[in-house]
Order: sequence, then C-alpha cells, then structure tokens
Amino acid sequence: MTVKRFYRYVILSLVLLLVAFSAVGCGNTAEKEKQPQAEVGEKIVIGHRGACGYLPEHTLESYALAYAMGADYIEPDVVMTKDGVPVVMHDIHLDANTNVAEVFPDRKRSDGRYYVIDFTLDEIKSLRVNERVNVDTKEAVYPGRFPVGDSKFEVPTLEEMIQLVQGLNKSTGRDVGIYPELKEPKFHLENGIDMGPIVLDLLAKYGYDGPEDKIYLQCFDPDYLKRVRNEMGAKIKLVQLIDEGDIYEKMMTPEGLDEVAKYADGIGPWYMQIRDAKGKTDEYPVINPNLVADAHQRGLVVHPYTFRKDQLPEYVDSVEELMKLFYYDIGVDGVFTDFPDLGVKVVQEGPDKK
Ligand code: G3P
Ligand code: CA
Repeated sequence: MTVKRFYRYVILSLVLLLVAFSAVGCGNTAEKEKQPQAEVGEKIVIGHRGACGYLPEHTLESYALAYAMGADYIEPDVVMTKDGVPVVMHDIHLDANTNVAEVFPDRKRSDGRYYVIDFTLDEIKSLRVNERVNVDTKEAVYPGRFPVGDSKFEVPTLEEMIQLVQGLNKSTGRDVGIYPELKEPKFHLENGIDMGPIVLDLLAKYGYDGPEDKIYLQCFDPDYLKRVRNEMGAKIKLVQLIDEGDIYEKMMTPEGLDEVAKYADGIGPWYMQIRDAKGKTDEYPVINPNLVADAHQRGLVVHPYTFRKDQLPEYVDSVEELMKLFYYDIGVDGVFTDFPDLGVKVVQEGPDKK
C-alpha cells in the first residue's frame, strides 16, 4: 500500500466511523424526540373551525381565511362517513350545516336527524354547506355572520384540509399546524367504525407522526384518548378536552391532572371553567383558580375554547379584552377562536404595559 493509498484508507475509515457514530446518535435523538414536547408558555392562536366568524365553519374557504389571518393552528373536527372516510364537520349530524333534508328527505333516522355515518362520501359531496342554523327554527345561530342562504360550499375530507394547509405552508414558507378533534369516537364504534386508527394512518401519511410535528390531536373522551396513546401508539401531541360534568370536575383537580399528564400533552377546558360568565372580574372569583398553574406544573399546555366576539361574558366589552385577560393575566398558552384575526392582533400587541 502506498502512503497516499494508506492515508485515503485512514480517512475513509474515519468517515465511516463518523457516519456510524452519528447514526447511533440520530437513533438516540429520535428516541428523545418521541417524548412529547408541548409548547408551554407560547401564545398560539387556533382558528376554531377555520375562521368561522366570517365563513361557514369547516369549509376549505374558512380554513384558508384562518390561514391568511395568521392562525398558528387550524382546527378540523373529524367525523366518519359510511364508507370510512374522515370528513370535517362539527356534528355527527348533517342537518345544522347542510341541505341534507332537501337532497335526501328519506334518509333521516327515527329521531328525525341525518347522521354523517349513514352517508357515503359521494353522497356527502353532493350536499351544500351553509352557515350553522338551529335545526328546529332554521334561524342562524349567529345572525351577524355569513348569510345562511347565499352559499355554495362543500364538505371537505380531512385529507383535503391537510393538503390545503400543507400546500399553503409550501407556497408561503410558513409552518401552520393542524389541530384535529376526534368527534364522539364511542358513537362511531357503536356504528361500526373505529375512527382512531384510520385518522392516525392518514395523519402519518402526511408526516404527522411524532411529538415535534405541528399537530395537536384533541378529544373529549378520556378513555378513547388513552387508547389513542397507549393502544394505537400515537406519538403526536394529544389534548384532553374538558366538558361539564363530574368526570371533568375530577379531571381538573391536581390528582386528575396527574392522570391526564400520563397520556396527554395539554388540556382544552371551556374558558368559563376558568372564569365565570357574570359580573366584573374583580367582583367575581375565578373558578378553578389553580387550573392553569397546576396544568403547567405537569407540563400540560392549556388551550381553552371558544372565544367569540358575538358571544361575550358580561365582564368584558370585547373579545380582544377577553383574550388578553386569558393570555396574559390567567396565563393560558393558546385560545380557540372563531375570529383568528383578533387573536393574532392580541398576541402581536402583547400584554398591557403596567
Ligand atoms: O375543540 C375545542 C372546541 O371546539 C370544543 O368545542 O364543541 O366547538 O368542538 P366544540
Ligand atoms: Ca372542536
């Protein structure tokens, strides 16, 4: 072996060794990255059902507007079609948001409701989405919002929603996340579909499969969310939503939060579970005064829902004031809002200077 070949041999060996070591190192890093990393302390704006204060909820148009308004995450609620396709819709019913009763008058169940899970994707795609109405009165739930009759929107699939956000991320260079909610998984199971594995597979197809990915998966059902983590092996960040009722009251105690922290990375309470709707803030005590601090102590982010300028508690004059109170006085990490532009404005302005 010549001296030159000897040196080449040594250098090549060193390079191979480095590659081998870095591969081992990568393995460790990947292992580390599998530990959930929630964004405690960051102030994020979640476009609730898109920007549904301005456009019918859960339409691609509503999501695109939320994106353009600067939301950090956009929320699709997820329900399943008869043929097992995840579509985005808040209700397991179709009546409040589509013209299903006109198109398929004979397809209601004995309770008079039309269920997403009784329709194929093709059938659902033939419907028109409208601004949310009260199913009994047919009046708009929020009269100041988009007109009920003047719309030609369709029900998107979850996949279409993801493609929209990822497409915009590519074309704008931003990194907006998604915040899907598994809606009523037990109802879906009773109707023959286990939605978790189907949704997790779809998310993984689009690269959402680790704790570092720009996604939170949320659910009200603690038993199901535990299954998502422990049986289905989800590594993405999970958020336990909190509703009213005994199990949720227990969940908000220190012991309850210890339990939540075993499988989730955050909690999503109704904001009125933190502060009452009535009166001035200084006259009415905060409900669950330790909830945010207790959650943070356990590494859980707190993202309360839902901040609406057309549904305000008595103690504020604007939704901006309400969001400011929650972000900066109460210390939550993010809010779900129908008006993401106003959330972004509040975060950009920051806390009031004392
Ligand atoms: O998921 C957060 C918030 O959206 C929960 O309430 O009923 O609007 O899905 P809901
Ligand atoms: Ca939701």
